[in-house]
Amino acid sequence: MSDKLDRLEERLDKARMRIKRSEDRQVIESVFDTKTLLTLYHMFNKGLLDEVNGVISTGKEANVYWAIQPDGTDVAIKIYRIATFNFKRITLYLEGDPRFSRIPKARSGLIAAWASKEFKNLQRAQNAGVRVPQPIHVQRNILVMEFIGEEGFPSPTMHQEAPEEPEPTRQTILKAVSTLYHEASLVHADLSEYNVMLWKGPVLIDISQAVVLDHPHSEMFFERDIRNILTYFDRFDIPRLDLDETITAIRRGDYK
Ligand SMILES: Nc1ncnc2c1ncn2[C@@H]1O[C@H](COP(=O)(O)OP(=O)(O)O)[C@@H](O)[C@H]1O
Ligand SMILES: [Mg+2]
Repeated sequence: MSDKLDRLEERLDKARMRIKRSEDRQVIESVFDTKTLLTLYHMFNKGLLDEVNGVISTGKEANVYWAIQPDGTDVAIKIYRIATFNFKRITLYLEGDPRFSRIPKARSGLIAAWASKEFKNLQRAQNAGVRVPQPIHVQRNILVMEFIGEEGFPSPTMHQEAPEEPEPTRQTILKAVSTLYHEASLVHADLSEYNVMLWKGPVLIDISQAVVLDHPHSEMFFERDIRNILTYFDRFDIPRLDLDETITAIRRGDYK
């Protein structure tokens, strides 16, 4: 038994050593719990990751880190936090999704399903031709994806920095919403300036809660996404787009 514990401690320490401690201890302990450290240990061992560098974002349910692969490539890893996960909220989004017909009961199983949902949604969006971070790997509560930015510096979100060319940017985002809807049968469901990064054009992120069109609320989410985007662009000196007309046009497939 103590041998087993020693081995576990050794693994945890090995994993901890590759995490740069750029945050205070409390945050580290709350994100990198034993299960998360062991998952990271496996990823280090398999050569999927070499090091976890600075934290990019600490959100309500997940933290995003800049990490490096053994060949030096930057990646972003999103770690869903088991302790602060809002289980009620996510059950709503998992319901009605035929890919998740059995919703796990255990907390860790539910989080793994959530992370894998984000991975699958990224794949599906990418296959349809929507610009999203390329999904690389998912294991338990950790999602590894393409790093959007350069040399460890993440690109700004549209909330952090206004796009240089608002009108074409709006057009590209509405086209992405249309492609997601028509080609991937998905609705982002949390689209706003916070979840669009600007890197040689808009890149949609944070797609874990995206729902399939069969979801009972997909049309409501679809309309809300479009409203959020139009409202954001109303601050710029460009022609306004009517909400109802835009929703109808996207549904009809005019945004191609
Ligand atoms: N692939 C990525 N590359 C670089 N930075 C990213 C990437 N994904 C997310 N981020 C950064 O992390 C922040 C939070 O990510 P997000 O997926 O929106 O999580 P949350 O659920 O906390 O909102 C984003 O606003 C962005 O700044
Ligand atoms: Mg977000």
